[in-house]
This record gives sequence, structure tokens and C-alpha cells, in this order.
Amino acid sequence: MKTITKILLSLSVAGILTSCDAGKNQENGNGELSVIPQPVNIKISTGSFEIKNHTTVYCKSDSLVNAGKYLSQQLGGLEIKSGSGGGINLIIADEEVNGIGSEGYKLNITNRRIDIIANEPAGIFYGIQTLLQMLPPVILNSSGQDYSLGEVSCSEIEDYPRFKWRGLLLDVSRHFFTIDEVKELIDQMAAYKFNILQLHLTDDQGWRIEIKSMPELTDTGAWRVPRTGLWWDREPPKDGEKATYGGFYTQEEIKDLVKYAAERYVNILPEIEAPGHSLAAIASYPYLSSSGKEYKVNPGSKFYGIEDNSLCPGKETTFEYLDKVFSEVAELFPFEYIHIGGDECYKGFWEKCSDCRARAKENGLKDMKELQSYFVKRLEKILESKGKKLIGWDEILEGGLAPNAAVMSWRGMEGGIAAAKAQHKVVMSPFSHAYIDFYQGDPAVEPPTYAMLRLNKVYTFEPVPEGVDSSYILGGQGNLWTESVPSFRHAEYMLWPRSFALSEVFWSPANSRDWPGFVRRTEYNLKRLNQKDINYSTSFYDAIIEPSKDEKGNLLIQLDTEIDGLDIYYTFDNTLPDHHSQLYIKGDKLTIPADADTFRVITYRDGKAIGKLIAVPVTDLVKRVQ
Ligand code: ACM
Repeated sequence: MKTITKILLSLSVAGILTSCDAGKNQENGNGELSVIPQPVNIKISTGSFEIKNHTTVYCKSDSLVNAGKYLSQQLGGLEIKSGSGGGINLIIADEEVNGIGSEGYKLNITNRRIDIIANEPAGIFYGIQTLLQMLPPVILNSSGQDYSLGEVSCSEIEDYPRFKWRGLLLDVSRHFFTIDEVKELIDQMAAYKFNILQLHLTDDQGWRIEIKSMPELTDTGAWRVPRTGLWWDREPPKDGEKATYGGFYTQEEIKDLVKYAAERYVNILPEIEAPGHSLAAIASYPYLSSSGKEYKVNPGSKFYGIEDNSLCPGKETTFEYLDKVFSEVAELFPFEYIHIGGDECYKGFWEKCSDCRARAKENGLKDMKELQSYFVKRLEKILESKGKKLIGWDEILEGGLAPNAAVMSWRGMEGGIAAAKAQHKVVMSPFSHAYIDFYQGDPAVEPPTYAMLRLNKVYTFEPVPEGVDSSYILGGQGNLWTESVPSFRHAEYMLWPRSFALSEVFWSPANSRDWPGFVRRTEYNLKRLNQKDINYSTSFYDAIIEPSKDEKGNLLIQLDTEIDGLDIYYTFDNTLPDHHSQLYIKGDKLTIPADADTFRVITYRDGKAIGKLIAVPVTDLVKRVQ
């Protein structure tokens, strides 16, 4: 649904809007703009410009017509004219504005006009995003001929990104997301100034892109048997069972998606996994693996190390396959890089394969890691022959990095550090700070996944490690793997607000980090997500339960919160805690009454419950410290 339709819909459903949502967005109690990511320089002065439904958008040059249309659409259809005047002016600077680069902008607001000035249309687009966020999250009254969309404070803003790579990854293999859902994600990303969407298009659980020269990849590889249970605990395909879950993008759909993304200054980085994570391809063409066995596309059941999901580097037919697939992929995606995966390649079947052993011998390779390196180097040549650069997960360092490869560091920062020191380009995406498929609150009340990454930790992510030449760090990326994300609604829950934190890490100056300010801006932006009916998590309001053991082995519980200003109440007596229950005093270590069954905890702010009620059986707390 388009944003403005949603606004109008929510207005008619909600009726009168509360006064706390009214006025200018800077009024979040701190005289600051609630813009994410935090702009580089903001000067606020007195007065404001009121944007009305009959305010005109002026485009100073033809190259800005698309940006003008985008702005107009976001605000319900403002009139667009060429030239300049007393409305919102989009202006490519006659002389280069120093210091803001190709994505930066200046936003000058007086009570007579708004000017967004940039060197390139991308900068104008980002200036528009800032302006949109400066409006209050709801329209006060959209009835009648003449209504206000809100006031924006008179101000001078100068802004530009810290990194040129501001990415998010969506895994469309483990669960399939429609083109419309991916477009919706692109809209959401663009609003927070992300500029790269990595689509994880292939894996063991599904192949999601039409390859005309290899039709089985989608006829067979795009489909698996339907399952809804816990990932890795699912029942394997039964004999004769129909593969009905899945889907793929046709090449026409991909072209349309790439265009849609480009209009929002988002590049799509396709990822085609090789040599590991290739079971969907091998289920389609069994000759691609070392063992040559027939397999089914995996539905989320255990198979790793049992079924042969790695492409065989010993056979020439594998490289013929790669050439065909990457020829078509290179044609479809204009972005300079293609991601080849390269992670978690199981090499057990290579060791038993006579072709692999022969290949290793011929090329003087001492082990299977060097054989993987041989594979990636050949793949790099294939990509370069199609005018593309190779990027892969940090395992591509093992056995020797391909000469021009870029590295996406996920197992930590170390791979990225090693690659940067060897003068290769790096994107930092460590699971410790950037894996937004992890839990963001207590596992007792969150949908099941694995590992923990709370909002406050994401906000501490620093993509440039000490001692590394920052010119090799292209930027960073958050990754949404979707083993446990079966719907787009849940993808949104995992993305926001953690991706607010990533957006700020990737765009704003390192020295502008300010957690309390970020929390205030986050709370304001969550209203904006409400307005657009975008789902998000409020887990950052929840209590953090930290069990430990004393020297005698007795269980102790400490409690904490991610944000300041919350009161924590708890019970051990099987009642629901509220503000009359025991108040937790920061730093206390609670001992557990001898026969307590369940520990319950909730947070309050200003006398109102705000966090989720968390109930954990004491036996589960004991397991957490074993
Ligand atoms: C990865 O998470 N295996 C890149």
C-alpha cells in the first residue's frame, strides 16, 4: 500500500489525533531534530515553514524530476514545477559544494522557502528523506481544500555519509519474499539512507532467480516441501511428497526491481552461493556435486555434512555452469560487485572425489582450503570477464585470497582486518554487531532464533578497527537471515529499530554517537513506522535478566535495562508483577526462594507498564548458567 493511502486510512480509522503528535518534530523534549541517521551539522533557528497540500515542489533541473515526483508522492501529491520559488526547491549546485561529496546535501529552511542543494541527485534524495523526517509523523487534518502537512523548523543542515557502503541483506532463499515485499523493504531502507540491498538469492533451501540457460534451477530448485516447525528440527522430505513451498523472480521482475531500487538510490547486490550452500542447485543438476547423488531441496531439516551441498571444483562442467549463471546475473544487475558466497563450504565430499584430488595434484594445492581458493580465483576470472568485481564472505581468505576480491567479514572483524591489511576492500558485517536475525530480547518472550544482539549493542558497532587504513573499509552491512523469518511482517520486526542503529553507524560521524539521544529519536521514528503500518520490535523496553552462580553454586539474578529511566518490578510467587510488586534496586543480586517455580519481571516508565512481561521457569534460568 502506498504511504499516503495508509496515512489517510489510519486517519479515518483513528479519528482525532493526540496533541503530542502535533507540531514540529523537533519537539521531542530536547530541542533536537528526530532525524535518523543523525545529520552531520544542524543549526536550528526560530520560526518554521508550514508545508501545505498546495505547497509547490520546484525542480531546478530535469535530472531532478524523479526526485520531485518522489517527494510529491510521499506528501500526497504536491504540485511539481520547474524553476524555483517560494515552496520546496530541489537544486543541483551550479558550482560543486565542497565537503558533501556525491551523496551529501544542504537543507536550508526559512519561513519563506525550503532549499535542498546537492552536487548529485542522490544528495537531493537524501535531503528529501531528512525533510520528510522533520515533518510530524501524522497529518493533523487532511479534510477540506487547504490543509497542513506540518511545520518544519527554520534550520540549516549540512549532511553527508561516513561510508559509501550502507547495506542490508535479505535472505530470500530460506524464506521467499515477493517482489512487492522486497520493494517495500527498499522503500523502508531508503528512508533511513541505506544504499545497498544484498539479495541472498540461492542456498540449500531454495534457488530464487530465473536462469534461462539452466531452467531446472527454478523448475526444481525453487521449491521445497512445506514445513512450519523449528528450523533444523523439521522433518526431511518424504518419498513422493510434493514440493509446494517456494517461488522465484523472473528476469523481467528482476529488471523491474533493479529499476525501482535505482530510483531510490539503492543498488542491488546479487548473491549466488558457491561452492558451498548449493543444495538447491545440486538438487536441480546432480552432476554439479562431487558425489553426483540426487537430493531434494532442503526444507530446514538437518543435512549438513550428510548430503553433498558443495559444487565440485574438480570437474570442468562446474565452471561451465558458473559461466552460464554469472553471465545472466551480470546482465541483470548493474552494480559493480557480485557476491559469490564462499562461506561454510563442507569439503568432506571433495576429499573423497577423484576429480578433486586430481585437480589439487595438477595445481600443486596442498589441501582442500587451497582447492577452495583455486575455485574462487577461477570464479573471479569469470566475473571479471563479465565486467564485475567479486565479493565474498571472509572464508574466501582461506587458502589465499583471489587477486582483486573484496571481503565481507562476518565471523568477526578479523577477516576484514586481514583483508584490509592485504590492501583489499572490505565490508564489515560481523555477527557480533550486525546479525539482525538474532534475538533482540529475552528468549522466553521472543520468537525462536539463536544468539543475542540487542539494540544497544548494535549501536556500539564500529566498522573501522584501530590500526586499519580506513580507506579499505567500504562500510558495513546488517544481515537478515531468514531461517526463522517466515513472513515479511516478521522481517520488519527483526529489522526495526535495530536497522535505525545500523543506519546511524553507517551514515553519521563516529563522534556523534549518543545513545540517549538515539533512543529519543528512535521512539519518535517508531511513531513514523506506526503511521506507515510497518512492524517493529519494542524489546529495548524489556528487562534484561542476567543469571549467574555464587561460589556455592546458588543461582543469582541481576536485572538491567537497555535504556535509562525504567523501573523494574518482579515476583517469585507466581503472581503477575506490577508497580505494587517488589522494585528492583540497580546492582542487587537476587537470591531465589528455595521452592520458587517461576521468575516474572516487567518494566515501567512514569508509572505505566512499558516492557513485556517476561516469565521464566527457575529451571530454565538454571540451564542458562550451566
Ligand atoms: C554466514 O552467516 N554464513 C555468512
